[in-house]
Amino acid sequence: MEPKSIVKGKVHYVGVNDRNKHLFEGMWPLPYGVSYNSYLIDDEKIVLVDTVDINFFEVYLRKIKLIIGDKPIDYLIINHMEPDHSGSIRLIKQHYPNIQIIGNKQTFGMIEGFYGVTEGQHLVKDGDELEIGHHKLRFYLTPMVHWPETMMTFDETDGILFAGDAFGCFGTLDGGFLDTRINTDKYWDEMVRYYSNIVGKYGNPVQKALQKLGGLPITTICSTHGPVWTDYIGKVVEIYDRLSKYEAEEGVVIAYGSMYGNTEEMAEAIAEELSAQGVKNIVMHNVSKSHPSYILADIFKYKGLIIGSPTYSNQIYPEIEALLAKILLREIKVRYLGLFGSFTWAGAAVKRMGEFAEKSKFELVGAPIEMKQAMKEHNYDQCYQLADAMAKRLKQDA
Ligand code: FEO
Repeated sequence: MEPKSIVKGKVHYVGVNDRNKHLFEGMWPLPYGVSYNSYLIDDEKIVLVDTVDINFFEVYLRKIKLIIGDKPIDYLIINHMEPDHSGSIRLIKQHYPNIQIIGNKQTFGMIEGFYGVTEGQHLVKDGDELEIGHHKLRFYLTPMVHWPETMMTFDETDGILFAGDAFGCFGTLDGGFLDTRINTDKYWDEMVRYYSNIVGKYGNPVQKALQKLGGLPITTICSTHGPVWTDYIGKVVEIYDRLSKYEAEEGVVIAYGSMYGNTEEMAEAIAEELSAQGVKNIVMHNVSKSHPSYILADIFKYKGLIIGSPTYSNQIYPEIEALLAKILLREIKVRYLGLFGSFTWAGAAVKRMGEFAEKSKFELVGAPIEMKQAMKEHNYDQCYQLADAMAKRLKQDA
């Protein structure tokens, strides 16, 4: 029986699962955990591709030694320096002191800064190659996917792309790592959430990378998070392509804050009218309950966005304010925007959200609504009109 770690031929999976961490990057919930993937090529030269979070080093080293025993590792390729992958560099260097670390100009400054490692550098430029026996590796610089040093390594012998974070998703690998041997259902929504939360701002660099790699005969994608993709390569690339172009489906996200239910009633009225107008995909998020991680993922999915905020101390409701900042940070493009809100003695939230409308360059649809205290008949009409305007705008694209 062949070892369970084989991805293909001499390429092995040596990654680990993190089922303990609550928040990735200290911000993004991990209901299904996350995997930190690393790969080992057991060729004439032995090559390790990326490492894992330092907390898992013992498990990681055991996995490596199960494959190569006490043989030394010749090269460590660093496709990405974020510490969920680079965290074990210093310990790997201690265990394998003669290892050559492969990176680009941006990589080595970070290795020194994070880990104080300055020896054994093997600098590569875009398009450089490395023969390691049976396998021939070629390096592609893909800056800002989503850090400046990000690159990918393509194994020309077997068509395996070691992609760094690209094509990755949240979710541990429960037993198997190959997409053909596992149920992949849980990963698709987690891929959209991973992309929109982590990579979201860098649509253009992702597009450049996709174009650069587009012609390669890829048979297998080895990302640093989530399954190894073989059968689903087309679907995975399509998801990353669509999200990085900020393309979205017909549908509306209604994100609102509400302290006593009055702003929420506006949201309900808008949603009911959208539905009556034939919009099927309507996602409502009470920002005090939904984590922004999920709201962002839905905003990446759908073209329509309607935001509602009570006025709070002459400002936007703080939870909405925080969401607006997260949307602006990601430079999400081409969304249709509706605005509504409420106040008790002096309105401010809707006016201030107008500044967000300008900064985001979203297309404002319908008239912003500002309701005083509680819903009256004319407020319901205003909500229906806003929903009608959004439904009509969406249908123009159908
Ligand atoms: Fe998985 Fe950008 O680190």
